Amino acid sequence: MNILLTGGSGFIGSNLVRLILAERPGWRVVNLDKLTYAGNAENLADLSGNSRYRFVRGDICNGELVADLFRNERFDAVMHLAAESHVDRSILAPSIFIETNVRGTQVLLEAAREFGVKRFLHVSTDEVYGSLGPTGLFTERTPLDPSSPYSASKASSDLLALAYFHTFKLPVVVTRCSNNYGPYQFPEKLIPLMIANAVRDLPLPVYGDGMNVRDWIHVEDHGRGLLAALELGEPGQVYNFGASSERHNIDIVKLVLKLVGKPESLIQYVKDRLGHDRRYAIDSTKAQQKLGWAPRHIFEDALAATVEWYVENRPWWERIISGEYLKYYEKQYGARK
Ligand code: NAD
Ligand code: DAU
Repeated sequence: MNILLTGGSGFIGSNLVRLILAERPGWRVVNLDKLTYAGNAENLADLSGNSRYRFVRGDICNGELVADLFRNERFDAVMHLAAESHVDRSILAPSIFIETNVRGTQVLLEAAREFGVKRFLHVSTDEVYGSLGPTGLFTERTPLDPSSPYSASKASSDLLALAYFHTFKLPVVVTRCSNNYGPYQFPEKLIPLMIANAVRDLPLPVYGDGMNVRDWIHVEDHGRGLLAALELGEPGQVYNFGASSERHNIDIVKLVLKLVGKPESLIQYVKDRLGHDRRYAIDSTKAQQKLGWAPRHIFEDALAATVEWYVENRPWWERIISGEYLKYYEKQYGARK
């Protein structure tokens, strides 16, 4: 199998590239990534020279580049992960989210249609369903009701992908996953941000009352789900992934502090995120029954291993939290205190 994997230099993408190379010996992966602020060539630097891996730096919105790549590589399948992925940035500057997540997806769908692929896996998010009240779970039949520019752009791209199935019979499979955690996550997201701040004795900024709920899944469990959806998913279908690990944000933050050995006095409640979704929780019964998938990681154990990874790999995130990151941090948190 020759796979085009977009966004392979990001968090989930880089973990997925490693998983594929380790567990699918006959596969070759071409990683198309623009290396935005969130993409990091360092994540896969050790793969240079590996004949089963090729890195192409490029923009998924560049139709000519994408068509050339499809023409030359004759891909069997696409795993599409490239996106602008951070909700807070979509509130500060929405345009790039529409460009990359909506237009970029359409460029890839068009190339996949023109050159023909056996599967187009569109990697989406549970955020397309909007927010839950205190009870209930998102199923694949929950109506789309996105709240942020990020989730609205992802919902748009989901619908485009499904439209290419209905209209052109492109064999599209869509996945919607809950919040991921694990190694190589950019330290603007809750868990790595809290670890990096705790380690440096900086305030831990908790939005609102800290009682919003997210449903956490280890990035490797998500990766295995994506492989199962690619190999066994039915074209035109949507599959939810989650590990039934709902936690209040404040409990995660307190757990991180405990694991790092720092006091709770570092917690700083700050102004809430605009339009902040209250609760996400996923029903992944369909993926479990139809794809034979199940999460393997236990949240508290895997969070402890994740904290350890960030403590041991401090130079990795210290190189990131300079320059552009500091400007973003000031814009996002400077006015929130
Ligand atoms: P990330 O921000 O860590 O990585 C995104 C990658 O896409 C980066 O390497 C970046 O350089 C690349 N990219 C961005 N714009 C590009 C463009 N125009 N052309 C080519 N490459 C481009 O994101 P992530 O957390 O790894 O998420 C990956 C995918 O999974 C996204 O589609 C996201 O919506 C989805 N997802 C994420 C989560 C989560 O919890 N992180 C949960 C469910 C779904
Ligand atoms: O649910 C899947 C989604 O999860 C993915 O589609 C997104 O790409 C991914 O970024 C993530 O979105 P969230 O907005 O849920 O994740 P984030 O880590 O930004 O925030 C998690 C929760 O923590 C949320 O309720 C906001 C809160 N938070 C976040 C940050 C960065 C804080 O309280 N303080 C913070 O500084």
